[in-house]
Amino acid sequence: MTARVLDGQALAARIQREEITPQVAEFTSRHGRPPGLAIVLVGHNPASEVYVRNKLKSGGGVGFRADLERLPADATLGDVLGLVERLNRSRVHDGILVQSPLPKALGPGAAQRVFDAIAPEKDVDGFTPVNVGRMVQNRPALVACTPTGIIELLVREQIPIAGRHAVVVGRSDIVGKPMALLLLHRDATVTICHSKTPDLAAVCRHADILIAAVGRAGLVTRTFVKPGATVVDVGMNTVTEASVAEQLFPEGHPRLARFRERGSVLVGDVHPEVAEVAGALTPVPGGVGPLTIAMLMMNTLRAARARAGSGT
Ligand code: GUN
Repeated sequence: MTARVLDGQALAARIQREEITPQVAEFTSRHGRPPGLAIVLVGHNPASEVYVRNKLKSGGGVGFRADLERLPADATLGDVLGLVERLNRSRVHDGILVQSPLPKALGPGAAQRVFDAIAPEKDVDGFTPVNVGRMVQNRPALVACTPTGIIELLVREQIPIAGRHAVVVGRSDIVGKPMALLLLHRDATVTICHSKTPDLAAVCRHADILIAAVGRAGLVTRTFVKPGATVVDVGMNTVTEASVAEQLFPEGHPRLARFRERGSVLVGDVHPEVAEVAGALTPVPGGVGPLTIAMLMMNTLRAARARAGSGT
């Protein structure tokens, strides 16, 4: 069996084109201004540069005002908090996203302090304690974009959630924890696994829906997967070691050839061999990543409507 490919790229493009863009146009003509998104980027993390560029491009594409607010790598925590305060007061910005990770020089706990400073009504990442708390209680909130995008994908691909066993590997605040709660709110039976879980493969084999969000290239191999299960790969790992690339792709595979040309390849947490066992699988790239951005657009539109007082 070869798993059905869950094409997040195509779904995200359709949501942005057919649903978000027309609603943004309607908002703009009704309120005389477009929804505004401000993205804060501190320093020059190469992966963040790419993510932020993609977010800005999508924002412009759906008709937002999308502004990049850069701070240098040696900015202080006070500089970052000051910028967030200014954006909290801005009339033209409905959404604020501070790209993580922040430079290590800002000290431990800096990201949490910065996220805490974002006005909850502009918190389009869903990272503030107010929005996290509301999400935990299953009340309306701005919810983290990656888990929201995964739910959207499962629902639109008609993969049943209620009554199914979902296993989430990874317990981050950005993906693992909110993912588990959103699946719970849709009546899945949910198990959360992490680095201290004994016999991880055996636990994962119980999953009807397996979410891999740990950041370890190819961790989830075929022995982790119940035949026919849906596997969602949240990993975005850049592999630069030939031995790792050779473990993931067989000799003659086009992606191994690409690795040898470029010296790196982007892979998920799920080993490609899982496609022979799973019923459905999200690819990397082109799976969860584009949906995260589509949900950011959706959250920004929601935030804009709420601020403009036009409800849904
Ligand atoms: N870094 C990696 N993923 C994310 C995300 O969803 N939001 C922010 N702000 N930073 C990230």
